[in-house]
Amino acid sequence: MILKGKEIVLGVTGSIACYKSVDLVSRLRKLGANVNVIMTGNATEFVSVITFQTISCNSVYADMFKPIGIREHEIKHISLAKRADIIIVAPATANIISKLAWGIADDPLSATVLACRCTILVAPAMNESMYRNPILQENIRKLKKRGFRFIGPASGNLACDEEGEGRMVEPEEIVEEIVALIGVKQDLEGKKILVTAGPTREFIDPVRYISNPSSGKMGFALAQEARDRGGKVVLISGPTNLALPDGVKFMQVLSAEEMEKEVLHHFDDSDIVIMSAAVSDWKPSVRVKEKIKMKDELNLRIESTSDILAELGKRKGKRILVGFALETENLIKNAKEKLKEKNLDLIVANKIKGNYPFGSDTNKVVFIERNGKVTSFPKLHKSEIARRILDRIKP
Ligand SMILES: Cc1cc2nc3c(=O)[nH]c(=O)nc-3n(C[C@H](O)[C@H](O)[C@H](O)COP(=O)(O)O)c2cc1C
Repeated sequence: MILKGKEIVLGVTGSIACYKSVDLVSRLRKLGANVNVIMTGNATEFVSVITFQTISCNSVYADMFKPIGIREHEIKHISLAKRADIIIVAPATANIISKLAWGIADDPLSATVLACRCTILVAPAMNESMYRNPILQENIRKLKKRGFRFIGPASGNLACDEEGEGRMVEPEEIVEEIVALIGVKQDLEGKKILVTAGPTREFIDPVRYISNPSSGKMGFALAQEARDRGGKVVLISGPTNLALPDGVKFMQVLSAEEMEKEVLHHFDDSDIVIMSAAVSDWKPSVRVKEKIKMKDELNLRIESTSDILAELGKRKGKRILVGFALETENLIKNAKEKLKEKNLDLIVANKIKGNYPFGSDTNKVVFIERNGKVTSFPKLHKSEIARRILDRIKP
């Protein structure tokens, strides 16, 4: 979703156009945004708090000195300002525009705007004479100089049977502008992306297995980022404790053999294949049917599992193929060899010494591309690493 994860603050002021902002909230939520509504006291004369509260699924902030929400100790105008990706004032009365131009902070909305550092979008709505008044025009110019963005007003029917300039632009148009300002790029629209994640388990007997500590966090982050950018995602994962991402086709597997079967099944259909699963390199030659007793001698014969990545490299065609390398030494040299051997477009190398990627939300990685380009990154959140991987390989 194009506004997934975005924090939007919507300021609603005392104009007859207030009712349109209910639709605006609904549209923003459908695109994945979390919307917090701030109403001026006068706005509550036009539309009730309960309407915005219900449509936004958040408490409405309308009284500076009345705590709301779960974190009642928070200073709301500061906390909302801090986490907002954008503040929209729609409808914006002549009054709020002039207050903002003069740095007045005597209500929840004007105080929040004054405290914020994000983009501010203002959608004026008023009678034409008010709009054309040189005082208001001067205040609008002042705000524009300070980086405030304006959308509208439009011309047409105004309240009280008047015609002219002053109508708030329609919610669709405001949404378009918001998407252009803060929307997640949809550069994977129409692309099919196959991602693998997590460890595999190779059972010795019904209760013991060979595996590794992979948590699946990297693969899940990749699947979510690809989905948010418009891709059609298939996520094939070994056992993890992670919540299943919405909007992704999810396939659960256990062993390397099951992983191979599912990957090959979806491979032909994919444009991009990212193999971030930590597939076990070995499996027991025999899986014992009954639990091996402690007193029994354990003679474990192991053999290699099939090399899924090498097989995909052979069948690659025009697909983009990404692999991961985890090394304890000679990171770049070993990763470069793996990239070549497996016919990859990009390998994401991560060293285990001084950086333990398993289970962590962050990692320190190096990208090595087919053309030999090497890029090292500082410690980043796995969602940020996912974003950078997709930026690098997008077709
Ligand atoms: C029925 C009615 C409609 C109004 N519509 C607008 C409007 O569209 N634009 C505007 O600037 N003021 C309008 N006003 C006047 C504002 O409500 C008034 O200036 C108020 O002080 C604005 O307060 P606020 O900016 O804190 O919400 C309207 C007033 C009434 C009674």
